[in-house]
Amino acid sequence: MISSASVLSLLLSATLATAAIVEPATFASTSFDFIVAGGGTAGTAVAARLSEIGNWTVGLIEAGEYRPDDENILVPQGWNTAPTWGNPTYDWGFNTVPQPNLADRSINIVRGRVLGGSSALNLMGIFLAGATEYDQLEQLGNEGWNYNNTLKYFKKATNMSVAPEYLQIGEHATFNPQYHGNSGPIHASFSSWFSEAMPPLYNAMVNLGFTPVQDGGDGQDAGDVWSPPLSINQDTKTRSYSAIEYYGRNADRPNFHVLTGAQVTKIELSSTPDNNGNLRATGVTYVSGGQTYTASVSKDVVVSGGSIQSPHMLELSGIGNKTILESVGIESKIDLPAVGENYQDHLVNYEQFIVPHSIETWDVMFNPGVQNDTVWQEYLVNKTGPYTSSVNVISYQTASHVTQNDSLLLDWLAELDAQFNASNPSPGRRAMYNIERQRLLPSSQQASVEVYAAPFHAYANDFELNTSYIQISSVPSHPFSRGSIHVNSSDPLNYPRIDLNAWAFDIDRHMMTASAKYCRVIADTDPLKPIIQEYSFPGPNVTTDTEWEQFVAENVMTPFHPCCTNAMLPKDAGGVVDSHLTVYGTANVRVVDVSILPLQLGTHLMGTTYAIAEQAADIIKADYGAA
Ligand SMILES: Cc1cc2nc3c(=O)[nH]c(=O)nc-3n(C[C@H](O)[C@H](O)[C@H](O)COP(=O)(O)OP(=O)(O)OC[C@H]3O[C@@H](n4cnc5c(N)ncnc54)[C@H](O)[C@@H]3O)c2cc1C
Ligand SMILES: *[C@@H]1O[C@H](CO)[C@@H](O)[C@H](O)[C@H]1NC(C)=O
Ligand SMILES: *[C@@H]1O[C@H](CO)[C@@H](O)[C@H](O)[C@H]1NC(C)=O
Ligand SMILES: *[C@@H]1O[C@H](CO)[C@@H](O)[C@H](O)[C@H]1NC(C)=O
Ligand SMILES: *[C@@H]1O[C@H](CO)[C@@H](O)[C@H](O)[C@H]1NC(C)=O
Ligand SMILES: *[C@@H]1O[C@H](CO)[C@@H](O)[C@H](O)[C@H]1NC(C)=O
Ligand SMILES: *[C@@H]1O[C@H](CO)[C@@H](O)[C@H](O)[C@H]1NC(C)=O
Ligand SMILES: *[C@@H]1O[C@H](CO)[C@@H](O)[C@H](O)[C@H]1NC(C)=O
Ligand SMILES: *[C@@H]1O[C@H](CO)[C@@H](O)[C@H](O)[C@H]1NC(C)=O
Ligand SMILES: *[C@@H]1O[C@H](CO)[C@@H](O)[C@H](O)[C@H]1NC(C)=O
Ligand SMILES: *[C@@H]1O[C@H](CO)[C@@H](O)[C@H](O)[C@H]1NC(C)=O
Ligand SMILES: *[C@@H]1O[C@H](CO)[C@@H](O)[C@H](O)[C@H]1NC(C)=O
Repeated sequence: MISSASVLSLLLSATLATAAIVEPATFASTSFDFIVAGGGTAGTAVAARLSEIGNWTVGLIEAGEYRPDDENILVPQGWNTAPTWGNPTYDWGFNTVPQPNLADRSINIVRGRVLGGSSALNLMGIFLAGATEYDQLEQLGNEGWNYNNTLKYFKKATNMSVAPEYLQIGEHATFNPQYHGNSGPIHASFSSWFSEAMPPLYNAMVNLGFTPVQDGGDGQDAGDVWSPPLSINQDTKTRSYSAIEYYGRNADRPNFHVLTGAQVTKIELSSTPDNNGNLRATGVTYVSGGQTYTASVSKDVVVSGGSIQSPHMLELSGIGNKTILESVGIESKIDLPAVGENYQDHLVNYEQFIVPHSIETWDVMFNPGVQNDTVWQEYLVNKTGPYTSSVNVISYQTASHVTQNDSLLLDWLAELDAQFNASNPSPGRRAMYNIERQRLLPSSQQASVEVYAAPFHAYANDFELNTSYIQISSVPSHPFSRGSIHVNSSDPLNYPRIDLNAWAFDIDRHMMTASAKYCRVIADTDPLKPIIQEYSFPGPNVTTDTEWEQFVAENVMTPFHPCCTNAMLPKDAGGVVDSHLTVYGTANVRVVDVSILPLQLGTHLMGTTYAIAEQAADIIKADYGAA
């Protein structure tokens, strides 16, 4: 048996410098130009880019630890085999309040609590949404936030590797270099192992009208089927993520100070406004080891706590809806009621099917003993096998294709218009609505539903050992409902109140139900159909619309794409930050993470998160004349 720790440390020693993580008191006595609050996917990236300016002193504060040689993070693993999810060493473990439309369930939200944030424990898909989605951000009043720039900064962040020829031919592991970086810090490549169940699934989707393309990340919106790039270093077959690539490689910079195991509790603001009527951030307060410290800052505080905690940090600092803040005893400093509003997340429906046991799937990892040991040795010795892969097949489709009934779609739109008008929307909300609404039109070529697939069971409590499964999952891409995330206590260590407000508009339920039915259509299509031995979950007894509606209400989860809680929009349209990512009413507090998106995107958010961080770094450098 080869020891896993020794192999992994060999794999890693080439790239990682010894990290200089500082003590909390030392950090507090340092005079910073910039402090980044939250060392996640975006925060670590933006801090690293700011520290390229040698005479700027940059501090990064992360609640979790730096774990560069932790195999639970490094070994690519798909779906819920990941030992990090639900584990408090890595995951904050948030839950929504019970959702009345989801059978009163609280929905679990996995969030990274480690240097690198959610990039340390996500499923590693790394790509962008269609070009129109980014251009729509600019149309909403955000100059410079368009596809061209997003692509430029996505490329700056990434380094994509060509797959071996047999995977290009057999598994569609291909890409167009025009749409991927080749020298950025984050490595990307394809799964190195595909289950035999995947080509039939891919070809069933082709038979349903999806177009096989060289690169699904080519800016086209819908209609493609492809094998997605993953943030895996092709040389080492380990996860490439924000902490090791943006920090680990730059840990020797004397001006880059990283404090881990410290939770930011407050941004300190000046008591009087500047000449423009804005408050200035003077420092950041944090708790570490039960002690409270404050570090001072001369330029900006960059809030990068992610979509759940960035609004929370602002509210704890007195920036938010005055009524809500005062109701829990927090002094209001800037009355900005849009903070924590506009919360959107995808919901995902998983369907689980049994395939012949002769087909190897990730389920072998769940069989203790021989099978699991075999694939683990395969990973350690040959860097091959199930432990080198994640999501295998992905596609986006139009509403018209998935519902297969334009008259029904028009009925839903009429119902939606009436419900939306009755909600008394603000002009800003209506502008976003109009963008989302036109996607549903029968004539639209834009993505409304994602379908992705993996060779694995989907339900942790509903599978048999020694059985091979595939899962086909569907995600309506653009929810109309809006939830909120707000402070629930003046104690900064208490979690905020997270209300997804799922399916407040019936269209979201309709689209989920239609998407769920569509996954079974895929399973019933050749050449996949002959290898489907059983509809496992849901079983064959779920067939009518009512049964599907009940099934999705009782079972949907999130693929962990919370966003939009500090929307970048004009202030009077419901904005929290302007297009330089500065919080309204402040001179120097910015937000840099996916909470700044005004609209949910039809994609998984990591690629966009890195692009946001890269673009933000250039904006900040330019604002201080350092570009
Ligand atoms: C399980 C999972 C699977 C996913 N799969 C994919 C995928 O396959 N592809 C894809 O594109 N996207 C995926 N995503 C989504 C993607 O990972 C996230 O959208 C993205 O990483 C968010 O980055 P962020 O910088 O906004 O937040 P995060 O990366 O979550 O960073 C926030 C950081 O701030 C820290 N923090 C928060 N509050 C404080 C505080 N008060 N003080 C100090 N530190 C604080 C947190 O500990 C964390 O490190 C997945 C997400 C999860 C959770
Ligand atoms: C920082 O370095 C730049 C480039 O070397 C220089 O132009 C600038 O004056 C320096 N700023 C300070 C505050 O030293
Ligand atoms: C993006 O770039 C292309 C090609 O350079 C150009 O034709 C297009 O106008 C640009 N779009 C925007 C919104 O700037
Ligand atoms: C890009 O990735 C390849 C493959 O891992 C590596 O050989 C190369 O050095 C990387 N390029 C840069 C600039 O990091
Ligand atoms: C602020 O919060 C209160 C209490 O939840 C709510 O009634 C009010 O509408 C909010 N204000 C704005 C402008 O959203
Ligand atoms: C499979 O093997 C890995 C590596 O030894 C181990 O961490 C994991 O717990 C095993 N899983 C099961 C279900 O035995
Ligand atoms: C590694 O690959 C070789 C060549 O294909 C094979 O013979 C060997 O059994 C593999 N080792 C493991 C541990 O899977
Ligand atoms: C399409 O939807 C309409 C409702 O608008 C319904 O009456 C009709 O039966 C549906 N057609 C099919 C084939 O399901
Ligand atoms: C909803 O409001 C818009 C804008 O006022 C109007 O154009 C539209 O006709 C209304 N639709 C319905 C169904 O009420
Ligand atoms: C697993 O399945 C295989 C064939 O399907 C069978 O030979 C084997 O005995 C099974 N093992 C267990 C532990 O059930
Ligand atoms: C909010 O605070 C109340 C009162 O302290 C508590 O009962 C409730 O559980 C909290 N809710 C959440 C979602 O944390
Ligand atoms: C289908 O069968 C399962 C298992 O017997 C049962 O739990 C479920 O309630 C049934 N669903 C419907 C819609 O009949």
